[in-house]
Amino acid sequence: MSYRLSLEFARVTENAAIAAARWMGKGKRDEADKSAVDIMRQMLGELDIDGQIVIGEGERDKAPMLYIGEKVGNGGVAVDIAVDPVEGTNLVANGLPNGISVLAVAERGSLLHAPDTYMRKLAVGPKAKGNVHIDAPVRDNLKAVAESLDRAVTDLTVIILDRPRHKDLIEEVRQTGARIQLISDGDTDAAIATAIAGTGIHCLMGIGGAPEGVLAAAAIKCLGGEFQGKLVPRNEQEEERCRRMGHGDRNKVYAIEDLVKGEDVVFVATGITPGDLLKGVRFFGDGARTHTIIVDSKTSTIRFIESIYRLTKRPLFVRRDG
Ligand code: FBP
Repeated sequence: MSYRLSLEFARVTENAAIAAARWMGKGKRDEADKSAVDIMRQMLGELDIDGQIVIGEGERDKAPMLYIGEKVGNGGVAVDIAVDPVEGTNLVANGLPNGISVLAVAERGSLLHAPDTYMRKLAVGPKAKGNVHIDAPVRDNLKAVAESLDRAVTDLTVIILDRPRHKDLIEEVRQTGARIQLISDGDTDAAIATAIAGTGIHCLMGIGGAPEGVLAAAAIKCLGGEFQGKLVPRNEQEEERCRRMGHGDRNKVYAIEDLVKGEDVVFVATGITPGDLLKGVRFFGDGARTHTIIVDSKTSTIRFIESIYRLTKRPLFVRRDG
């Protein structure tokens, strides 16, 4: 994919983030989501791509827009697209950190069509790549991560979704002495943080959404880290859905290559609410300032971009940062 196209994708998440950020803290998760979905769909429709949504807002009968299988774009390079216009709808509705707008793009046929179910996840950064396994005991994995990072287990921070289902996992991690950051939502952002030095996050463990797993895997692939997942259907219906989609084996470990094939992958995310990795959207009179990460596997580049959008035609006074 061209550099120009990756900037176009960034414009898509930036506009979706601006739309959703208007709803920050207003307690209206559906409205925040809808505003981002609308603009994302409109903007994807204007790009010179032959795009197909493989991870989106749901099945065609449940989602009027950005449904799985929907075609987007004006024609051009054939790509798979995974979107989450608002990852962390509760975070945005409650004005909490780390709500982001996300999109991953890869060559047609490259992204796993993940069933809408849960996934057990393990994510670590590049230094620990190849040294962990999702089926290994928590203690062994954390020991391996600590050794890879040349530090003690007690100096690691593990990020986990704060859910009752993680009671045992949290206890196991505590027994190793590692520190824990519990988050209320948003395990995509959390998984990506493990692969970026300086975030203070060294490992993500636990169960979250499977579609979010594919998005995280796309970013981590570009960042050179490791992501492994196992599908965890919540009920018989989801079990059947997994089987129908060819994912009936509950013991299968999905490595990054199973989730995101090929070498031409672009991942973009824009902060909606202020976060650890990305700043949130800031509005100032006639404009808005966005903060975006673009990770491009083909060119091996990671860009953090601050953009200023003029929301009216009036001249804008721009500060260097703010
Ligand atoms: P939404 O933005 O779709 O609400 O997802 C937020 C999220 O926290 C994800 O980051 C995570 O993978 C999933 O929900 C966890 O699901 P649950 O809230 O059912 O535990």
